This record gives sequence, structure tokens and C-alpha cells, in this order.
Amino acid sequence: MPSFENEYYELKGLLGRIENGLEKIGASRDQVSLGQLAQVDEFHFRGLAATKELIGQLKVGTGDHVLDAGSGLGGPARQLAVANGCRVTGVDLSTEYCATGRALNKWVGLQDLVRLDHGDVTDLSRYEDNSFDGAWTIHVGMNVENKAKFYAEIFRVLKPGTSFLIYDVVAKSAQLPLYFPMPWARNESSSFVVTIENLREELTGAGFDLADTSDLTAQGTAFIEQFIEQLQQADTPPPLGLNLVLGPIMKEIVPNMKRNFAEGRIGLISLLCIKPA
Ligand SMILES: C[S@@+](CC[C@H](N)C(=O)[O-])C[C@H]1O[C@@H](n2cnc3c(N)ncnc32)[C@H](O)[C@@H]1O
Repeated sequence: MPSFENEYYELKGLLGRIENGLEKIGASRDQVSLGQLAQVDEFHFRGLAATKELIGQLKVGTGDHVLDAGSGLGGPARQLAVANGCRVTGVDLSTEYCATGRALNKWVGLQDLVRLDHGDVTDLSRYEDNSFDGAWTIHVGMNVENKAKFYAEIFRVLKPGTSFLIYDVVAKSAQLPLYFPMPWARNESSSFVVTIENLREELTGAGFDLADTSDLTAQGTAFIEQFIEQLQQADTPPPLGLNLVLGPIMKEIVPNMKRNFAEGRIGLISLLCIKPA
């Protein structure tokens, strides 16, 4: 397993913090809904709303087996499994997230539909060629330096004719540096954000046909503004939120998210690709 220096994704004790948060909103591990968990387990811009849109775009259905590359705490995987009745296998490099996500699967009774494997998206050798009916990756590419290997592996494990959906942050210009820390990286040494043009080249280089691109930058900007407004209005940090996942550095991240969007440094896109039949 290659070393992975992003300490963001290994902040220990996450499950306990989530359990405390649930108590504060009057829920518990025995009585918790996917909607409640979504406040903390949807680790990407625009949270559950974005996941619901992606579910509508990925062409999979009941009984299909879908790969979630970089599944985090498994929030999007659980939503997809419940919405479409498919089996989802997530793979993620963070041992803390995989363990937490497996516990959350049990809390909501989804351990048979959603499996969370510990692993690297650039080496999917545990999965067979042409074995998945669809795949998605949500806010992971920004951490992956070797995108050629990442997308080649996704291409290999997908059945011909199936789709791969990407929802990622892109750079608006290769020349404009980003402000850090951001939610995926403390500094630029673990950030590999590319422009949409680069991303398209990587995907076609891996063999994918590009079906559809949506520019969601305006929605991302509006989301951050609303997110900041809500934080400012509250006296205390949210009982269940990404602050539990990221810890105290969240305070430094929040203004940078706003600046990177406002100054046109980052954009937000979804991109649907097809493995040719
Ligand atoms: C911002 S989080 C997104 C998690 C999840 N997709 C979601 O939207 O809730 C990024 C995730 O990518 C994972 N990750 C980063 N690089 C990875 C790699 N090379 N292989 C597998 N997972 C990776 C991290 O551990 C983290 O869980």
C-alpha cells in the first residue's frame, strides 16, 4: 500500500464524535436515518443535494454492482444503494473512514448492500476486469497524482457500455494557485487539482467516451456562501457536520473555500463518461 500523507483523513475517534453528535440531535446509533447521517457523511461540496443529483445521472439500477472510488465514510454509497437498489462497493485509502463507514452501515442496516474496502484507487487489482455495472468518484481526483492509473483502473473494472461519473473540483486556470488549507489538503503537496481540459484528456486517454459535462461552479459558490452564513448565525458549531471529520482546521478551511470560488480559482464539475461497448 503506498504511503498517504493526508492527515486530514485519519483524525481518530470519528465514530465516537458522530455518536455524541447524534445524541445532541436526539438520535442514536439504534435510531438514526440516512438523512441525519448525511449531515456528517457526505464529504463534498453541496452535500446530499449533490449526491441526489449524481444518483439521477448514473445509469444503474436494481441488482447492479457499482464501484464508489474514494468512498470516504460511505454516505454517497449508502444513498445510492437505497435509492437504486444496487450493491455498492466503496474503496478508500483512509483506515479511519473505512472502519467508521462500516459501523455506520450496520447502524442503518445496510451492511449487506454496501461494502467498504480499504485500498488505493490507483490499484484496484482485487477487482476483476469487466466486473462492475457502473462507477462514480466524488471529490477524490483532487488527491490523486497519478490520474492516468486511476482512470485506467476504473476503465478496466467496468463492464463495456457502462458509465463512470465524476464529481470533482477543477482548477479554473493552471496558472492560478489555490489558497490552502482546503477540505482535501493542508497544502499543495497533497493537492492535484487539474483543469477540466486536463481531466478530459486523462479520461479519453484511458479509453472513455465523454458523454456529458455540467459546470456546477455557481451552485458551489452559492452553497459556500449559505454554509458560511449558517455558521455565523449559530452560537456553537453544528452537532453533526464536517467539523467532526476535519477537526479544528475547519476554521482555516472555511474562508479559503470562499476565496477560491470567489476569485475564480476553482470550479466544480460533474462529468459522465462511458466505457465503449
Ligand atoms: C473529500 S473525501 C470524499 C469522500 C466521499 N467520496 C464523499 O464524497 O463523501 C476524499 C476521499 O478520498 C480518499 N482518497 C484520497 N486518495 C485516495 C486514493 N488514492 N485511493 C483511495 N481513496 C483515496 C480519502 O481517503 C477521502 O476519503
